[in-house]
Amino acid sequence: MADLDGAKEAKSFYTDIPQKTEGFFLKGSDSLDWGMKNRLSRIFNPESGRTVMLAVDHGYFQGPTTGLERIDINILPLVKYADTLMLTRGILRSIVPASTTKSIVLRVTGGTSILKELSNEEIAVDIEDSIRLNVCAMAVQVFIGGEYEKQSITNMTRMIDIGTRYGIPTLAVTAVGKDMARDARYFRLATRICAELGAHYIKSYYIEDGFDTVTACCPVPIVIAGGKKISESDALKMAYNAIQQGAGGVDMGRNIFQSECPAAMIQAVRAVVHHNEKPEKAFDLYKTLKNQQ
Ligand code: R5P
Repeated sequence: MADLDGAKEAKSFYTDIPQKTEGFFLKGSDSLDWGMKNRLSRIFNPESGRTVMLAVDHGYFQGPTTGLERIDINILPLVKYADTLMLTRGILRSIVPASTTKSIVLRVTGGTSILKELSNEEIAVDIEDSIRLNVCAMAVQVFIGGEYEKQSITNMTRMIDIGTRYGIPTLAVTAVGKDMARDARYFRLATRICAELGAHYIKSYYIEDGFDTVTACCPVPIVIAGGKKISESDALKMAYNAIQQGAGGVDMGRNIFQSECPAAMIQAVRAVVHHNEKPEKAFDLYKTLKNQQ
């Protein structure tokens, strides 16, 4: 009968304080349902609004990529520095301890190899498995301008529909064919198509000219892939420029795990992404941490 006791309404009900209704911190995501927002908040740090995704899914079409031959030895020690791990269910189940509290972005398309036409992908993971694995987003490769463009777009829209049913966001991963121009015009086209069709966030590449126009006209967050290995200082410059021009983070693989010192590199990338560290200072941090190893 506690509710009937006393006259403490003014104190315990705070009748003079309206309940706060906070907007969601992530670009274009305020209308999503609670579960989607909660999962995205485990990928993107709500304080900085950004993410460092460690991408180690390359094996799904190219086998044991340099640096990923032994994920147990080379990658697990890096996981603590990442906000999110992007990988396949095979590696997740066989190597990553289930006790991890890191968010998982699961690669859910596949079916091709580097020996064949890469755009000919299908959905390769059932939604039930994504739910069982407690993933925070599903990654789908989209080949705008590729031979199987329509099929890859349909893979994406299908996963968006199914994921929406269960509150799991879809990351559209724009893949650029070898013979396509990697310019702002292409990335504006590719990222905007993915966003218009409902992708919750999009992986693109950084380009020197006009990257800010790509992020400006994409209504949801863009994260950049690192691409082929370049020098550590250049990779940090690229990450810095991308962040300053509106990227919501990085989805970086080779420039971390193929670095001379991956643990130092991912920490330097974090400084750039979450603390706006200038590339020169981040490179100094990289060298310092590398010397301590
Ligand atoms: C392609 O294999 C995957 O989507 C990678 O996760 C993506 O390309 C990011 O890796 P990297 O930084 O090595 O390009």
